Amino acid sequence: MSLKINRRSFVKSTLLVSGAAATTGMLSGCATGEFIHGIASGDPLQDRVIIWTRVTPQGMGKVPVEWEVATDLGCHNVVQRGIYVTDEFRDYTVKVDVKGLTPGTRYYYRFRTTMDVSPTGITRTLPQGAVDQFKFAVFSCSNYPAGYFNVYRHAVERDDIDAVLHIGDYFYEYGMGGYATEDAEEMGRVPAPENELLTLQDYRARYAQYHTDPDLQALHAKLPFITVWDDHEIANDAWKAGAENHNDGEGDYFLRKANAIKAYFEWLPIRERHGEDNDDIYRSFEIGDLVSLYMLETRLLARDKQLDYADYMTPTGGFDSDRFLADLSNPARALLGEEQKAWLQNGMATSGATWQVLGQQILMGRMNLPIPLITFQIGFAEYIQLTQLAQTNPDQLTPEQWAILQAPSVPYNLDAWDGYPVERETVLETARLLNKNLVVLAGDTHNAWASNLKTLSGDLVGVEFATPGVTSPGLETYLEGQDPDLVAAGAVAFIDDLKWANTQYRGYMTVTFTPEEAVSQWILVDTVKDKDFRVLDVYGKSLKVLPGPTNRQILDV
Ligand SMILES: [Fe+2]
Repeated sequence: MSLKINRRSFVKSTLLVSGAAATTGMLSGCATGEFIHGIASGDPLQDRVIIWTRVTPQGMGKVPVEWEVATDLGCHNVVQRGIYVTDEFRDYTVKVDVKGLTPGTRYYYRFRTTMDVSPTGITRTLPQGAVDQFKFAVFSCSNYPAGYFNVYRHAVERDDIDAVLHIGDYFYEYGMGGYATEDAEEMGRVPAPENELLTLQDYRARYAQYHTDPDLQALHAKLPFITVWDDHEIANDAWKAGAENHNDGEGDYFLRKANAIKAYFEWLPIRERHGEDNDDIYRSFEIGDLVSLYMLETRLLARDKQLDYADYMTPTGGFDSDRFLADLSNPARALLGEEQKAWLQNGMATSGATWQVLGQQILMGRMNLPIPLITFQIGFAEYIQLTQLAQTNPDQLTPEQWAILQAPSVPYNLDAWDGYPVERETVLETARLLNKNLVVLAGDTHNAWASNLKTLSGDLVGVEFATPGVTSPGLETYLEGQDPDLVAAGAVAFIDDLKWANTQYRGYMTVTFTPEEAVSQWILVDTVKDKDFRVLDVYGKSLKVLPGPTNRQILDV
């Protein structure tokens, strides 16, 4: 449908088609608003996509916002339009699930109030049928006070990306003085509100601040996002009934969780679920016959509390490994939970797509490191020297040094899939039994990793590509003084399934799927503390995996 109409008739015709939500009564005497938080789109399907904006109201009451979706930048060829009436109960955000669209098509969209017109955004629907290529840009851990969103800017300036996956830590809940805020004042990025987020107003205000960032705005305006939360959209190390960064003095955890979820649904272009406070945001996307993408929820729905090594220390300073292993391998220990797991297994069983892709938060690869490294008893450089000495001149090693080398390796992060090995094995075994090509995308760590994924029996079933953070500091901060190249080399040497790592730089990755291969490219930047940055080609890296049962492992490009 192509209509050229003036503003008055646009409003009139829209009112006629947009149903009960928009009545002429709402338009009289209502507030108006302007668009300072940008526009966004998300959750594209073959025939629909979410478009989003927020109006800053001038006055109180309901604000009618006209929207239109067109096939051209000038919005002459409008294919869908309507009016969405927003108000303070959804923080004046606007979210429309625009239906009746054509698969694999680029669309333009914009919003209008009586006083302002939004910028025009670009989005696209997912293709169907035979698909030659699809490229995701994958982001995580975008922490406003920790730096500039340079890597968003880099993605905006390229034209080869089809959709953005943000796999968690879209924002951080800390207040000024909290995690990674040391440089915030100097960069003009003091978190708002300055306190840690607890109330609905807090969470809303933090989203509002992030949505004024020009680089984030530009990326939202250019590409559809598919998002899942990790922990920091609520509180650090969140699980179904608590969080490391939630204490008794901070009130009811479930109320805080509900506040965080409500604000998330208000401020992000995610399709509404069954109500405003639902935490079952796991959902799938079909990219024609090429990719089945499963976005997983690993935080609020079913996750049991993280184990803590400190809880297994004996009074004499030893470690009760029997009790630890019994708890770790308890079959009832949940990360996805039964319902989500069954949904995933059913999806993989019925999918005919070449690639089965998990878009999710935490590392699935086994990340076991020698205990002396985890406990900072020794640095990576010295540990590597000891291993070399053990091979060349073992007689020179002292008993203490032998003890260090003989210490067992354990998972370094029990908040990751390493802390939930039974469910991990179920997922990996599912891929093996179904003979599927599994590609897992992960974030959370702020560093870049590439791992093979193996069942406990040693069968290769897929690979994991993990994206570094957008700004949150990585291992280079925790291991200050240690050469990051040696840390990465040591990690690859000591962790069996880990094939590549960068533990120093922020960035993002693109993952390009074709029928022949899946290629991950990591784009790393030299700084996030200055708006002037450059991409570190020398540390750029591409790795791939091929489909087929004998190819399911990390390969050089
Ligand atoms: Fe993070």
